Amino acid sequence: MERLDKILASQGTLSRRDVKEIIKKGRVTLNGAVVRDSAVKVDLNTDTVAINGEKVTLKKHIYIMMNKPQGVISASDSEDDETVVDLVPDELFRKGLFPAGRLDKDTTGFVLITDDGDFAHKILSPKNHIFKTYLARLQHELTPNDIETLEKGITLADGTTLKEAKVEILENTQTPLIKIMICEGKYHQVKRMFAATGNKVISLHRSKMGELELDPQLKSGECREITSEELLKVQKS
Ligand code: URA
Repeated sequence: MERLDKILASQGTLSRRDVKEIIKKGRVTLNGAVVRDSAVKVDLNTDTVAINGEKVTLKKHIYIMMNKPQGVISASDSEDDETVVDLVPDELFRKGLFPAGRLDKDTTGFVLITDDGDFAHKILSPKNHIFKTYLARLQHELTPNDIETLEKGITLADGTTLKEAKVEILENTQTPLIKIMICEGKYHQVKRMFAATGNKVISLHRSKMGELELDPQLKSGECREITSEELLKVQKS
C-alpha cells in the first residue's frame, strides 16, 4: 500500500504539486469515489484510480536509466558518499529504489535503477547471459594473445573464475580503447580481467546493458525512465 499522491506522481506525467492540486479539486477517484485526501493508501493490485473519469493504469515498478558520474557510489544510501539513488529526481523517486548491478565509484555510464528485485535478479544472473558492454581505456597495448585469454575466460590467482568475454579494439593506440562485453558482475571484474593480462584500466564506462544503449542525450548525472520497449531490449542476451 502506498500513498495516492506518491503513486500518481511516480507514474511519470504529473509532478507531486500537480497531483495534490487535482486531488484537491476532486478530479481523482478511488474505486469510483472522489478522494480529497492525498495521503489515502492505495493497493496497486486491487484498487482503481481515475483522473477526470479516465482510468489510470498504475505501474507497479519503475525502471530508470542513469548516466552515472565519477565519484558517486552505486548504492541506495550511504553516510559518506553521494549515491546514484540520491541523484534520482523527485518525479521519478519512490521508496525501495536500488541500482541493479554496481559500478565502481570511478566508473561512469549506464546504471539501471529500479524497485523491482525480480527484474534485477533476472538481468544480473550470469545464467541468463545478458551482456553488459564497457568501454575501457587501457594503459598499455592489448596483444592478440591477451584478447584470446580474455575471450576464453580467466582463473585469477585467488581462484576466482571469470567467464569468457567478447573483446574488440576500438582505438588501436598506445593507450587503446577497448570494448569488452561480460555477462557476470563480479567485484572489479573488468579491471581484474585486464590486470590478469598485465594491463591497467585508466577509465571505464558502461555503455550498454543487454541490447539497450545508454541514451546519448543523458548528460553525466542525468536520468530518465526506461520505456517498456527498451526494457525488453535490456533483457536480450
Ligand atoms: N568492472 C569493473 O572493474 N568495474 C566496474 O565498475 C564494472 C565492471
